[in-house]
Amino acid sequence: MDYFKQKVQIKHLSFPRFMSGPLDGITDSPFRQLVRDFSSEELLYTEMRHVRSIVTPKGGAMALNFAQFERPLNFQVSANSPDFIEPACERIIQAGVDIIDLNAGCPAKNVVSSCCGSALMANPVMLEKILKEFKRVLPDHIPLTLKIRAGFKTVNAVDIAKLAQDCGVDALAIHPRLQTQKFAGRPDMDIAAEVKRALQIPVLFSGNVVNFKTAKLTYEHTGVDGFLIGRGMWAKPWKLEEMRQHALGNEYKIDSKTMLKVALKHVGLMVQQFGVHGLFRFRKHLPFYVKGHPSASELRARLVRSDSQEDIEKGLQEFLG
Ligand SMILES: Cc1cc2nc3c(=O)[nH]c(=O)nc-3n(C[C@H](O)[C@H](O)[C@H](O)COP(=O)(O)O)c2cc1C
Repeated sequence: MDYFKQKVQIKHLSFPRFMSGPLDGITDSPFRQLVRDFSSEELLYTEMRHVRSIVTPKGGAMALNFAQFERPLNFQVSANSPDFIEPACERIIQAGVDIIDLNAGCPAKNVVSSCCGSALMANPVMLEKILKEFKRVLPDHIPLTLKIRAGFKTVNAVDIAKLAQDCGVDALAIHPRLQTQKFAGRPDMDIAAEVKRALQIPVLFSGNVVNFKTAKLTYEHTGVDGFLIGRGMWAKPWKLEEMRQHALGNEYKIDSKTMLKVALKHVGLMVQQFGVHGLFRFRKHLPFYVKGHPSASELRARLVRSDSQEDIEKGLQEFLG
């Protein structure tokens, strides 16, 4: 299908239609570096960081510690007022990113209780102020995108999407579930289709797109312009390349040797970036690397408490090698 060979244009930039969506605790710099081993042009989202944390020395240093070859990058922030947006954007742009994304979709209790994330969908007056502040401070060469849900407690995605477009947002991503649904239940494709029909700017879809087949079905139902792959990327940094090849009608299979190489590189990058804490962060990925293996639960039980890089590497070698 020609559609999948074409790119999606966000302001003056264009990208393949499959992108790596934001997953807090997962799509960190080490993971993005692994994705780049397979996919060179695709847009990768960072994890969400509050604008206020970016202007603190520690928060800024952590959030902005990434490699330039991870670009093109869409740096995702949260905000609950226009405060801190200007200095945060200055720092983010100086660190070298391509797009800035505002999160208006996160359902987590601690996020919505401070009027961030999806709570902004229930507060369009504040959302408008925040978007206008981004547009005021962002230079012309940095597009602004927004990620929303179907709504907070009730559906209002079309109204919010139109507001975003009127404020000058350059592309909108929708994860069509309510805040109350968190990440469960079927994403509502009809709402995504309605949003797509209502807007002139590109609309990206997020939710249960895990392979080329689900992307194609989603496109046929909604007409969206691109796809953020979230949990489908978990321990599969080759996922975007796999989907690209399947869209071209080619076979794509990762052999166990490559998978082991990826997992070992992942452990190494985690330690390099986060020190010993990187091993704890790697625990989130481990079950997905060994999923389906007959001894997966044994390996998980053995390694999940380990704080030794050597142990983890040996375990991976034993099971995947
Ligand atoms: C562990 C986890 C962390 C997430 N972190 C973020 C985040 O930082 N920013 C964001 O916009 N969405 C976040 N999401 C939502 C995903 O980007 C995505 O919208 C959602 O998981 C549905 O897509 P999927 O089925 O492809 O995972 C997160 C989801 C999960 C499961």
